Amino acid sequence: MDAIRIRGARPLYGTIPVGGAKNAALPILCATLLSDGDSLLRNVPGLRDIDTTAALLRFLGREVRVDIPEVRVARATQPARPEAPYELVRQMRASVLVLGPLVARYGKAKVSLPGGCAIGARPVDQHLKGLEALGAKIRVEHGYVVAEAPRLRGNEISFDMPTVTGTENLMMAAALAKGRSTLVNCAREPEVEELGRVLNKMGATVEGAGTDTIIITGRDELAPFDHAIIADRIEAGTFLAAVGAAGGDVLVDGAPYDDLEPVIAKLRKAGMELEREGEGIRARRLGPIRGVNVTTAPHPGFPTDMQAQLMAMMCRCEGQSVLTETIFENRFMHVPELVRMGADIETRNNTAIVTGVPRLSGASVMATDLRASASLVIAGLVAEGETTVRRVYHLDRGYERIERKLAAVGADIERVREEPAS
Ligand code: EPZ
Repeated sequence: MDAIRIRGARPLYGTIPVGGAKNAALPILCATLLSDGDSLLRNVPGLRDIDTTAALLRFLGREVRVDIPEVRVARATQPARPEAPYELVRQMRASVLVLGPLVARYGKAKVSLPGGCAIGARPVDQHLKGLEALGAKIRVEHGYVVAEAPRLRGNEISFDMPTVTGTENLMMAAALAKGRSTLVNCAREPEVEELGRVLNKMGATVEGAGTDTIIITGRDELAPFDHAIIADRIEAGTFLAAVGAAGGDVLVDGAPYDDLEPVIAKLRKAGMELEREGEGIRARRLGPIRGVNVTTAPHPGFPTDMQAQLMAMMCRCEGQSVLTETIFENRFMHVPELVRMGADIETRNNTAIVTGVPRLSGASVMATDLRASASLVIAGLVAEGETTVRRVYHLDRGYERIERKLAAVGADIERVREEPAS
């Protein structure tokens, strides 16, 4: 199992490239199931989650060629098998995104329930409620969701709360439903808006993607597409927080400034200088870090996927920083590991109170989920001495070669093969 070893307390200087957005690529790969033709995705990041989704599409009867940054999805020779097995779904809960396309395209889908994960229960009740509104018969048996509908019919769907993959699942299902659907209380993330662009390229009529109300006119069939994926705002935000923590002056090239407004506002308040430069963001932190208070919220609020990374930056702030997590019930798994590095963090329910300390000290720490592991890497960049972040397979799900990108701007960081614990 790989680990990442960092010798910290070095500022960062240079340029870091940002890749394509993982959370846009995943639903768009699933959207290929809505059409029989050959689709091409460009600017796809080289991530474990992309490989997992490719394996799932192959299982579902598609030919998939992953040639990063391109992925081609074609019709396969063998007939489609609209089933997503537990072995694949348990590796990546976003596999639930095949449910809508399968039942819309094949009239039947059997998808393993994703189960919870480290950061929370993460039910899919809104996905199922929406599919029922479109006329699907849903039953849950032996850990699988079975959805059937000879033909989905357009309808009004109102989500109880904004759900990113719930919105995306129902957009894809509605794109092949008969007639018009109105989705209300939708997630407004840029990745949802991007999926809307792709469904329009495929021949559906999607209006309002990126707002809380989306109107979709379905088609009898949809065309394949050629699409370049938007940049990953969370990868970019992670690098901005890394500069904020370690100090220095870095161009985060390709960072989508407009999608990062809520993050930029908080990092500026914390003492960073952030300006548009070319296609990216120039990030500087030369003075002290000021404590800021943040409450995560659905887009356009401060993204939950940046909470752990900001917390790592706040460990050495002047004063205090209060971070409140409102999206997931257990997204503080990074706290005990940061405390082992010398951070002063007290958690009460869904609030973490970070009191700045003058220094962190390197330690051997354990990653538990994707963004928590990014948070530990950031802390390692700042800590005195050596930090080893273990179980970096979590990191590889969402960050392409993060150690190389950071080494290129002066971090003393390398990937090492960890001896299995004796
Ligand atoms: C997406 O997960 C992202 N994943 C997550 O990113 C991100 O943290 C999350 O949105 C919130 O922004 C992908 O896009 C692949 P939700 P998703 O449905 O769609 C509750 C990462 O780090 N809910 O928006 O699973 C749910 O429990 C990952 O890249 C229901 O109750 O999240 C949560 O409290 C981690 N019932 C809230 O809604 C449902 O049917 C938001 O979840 C659906 C959701």
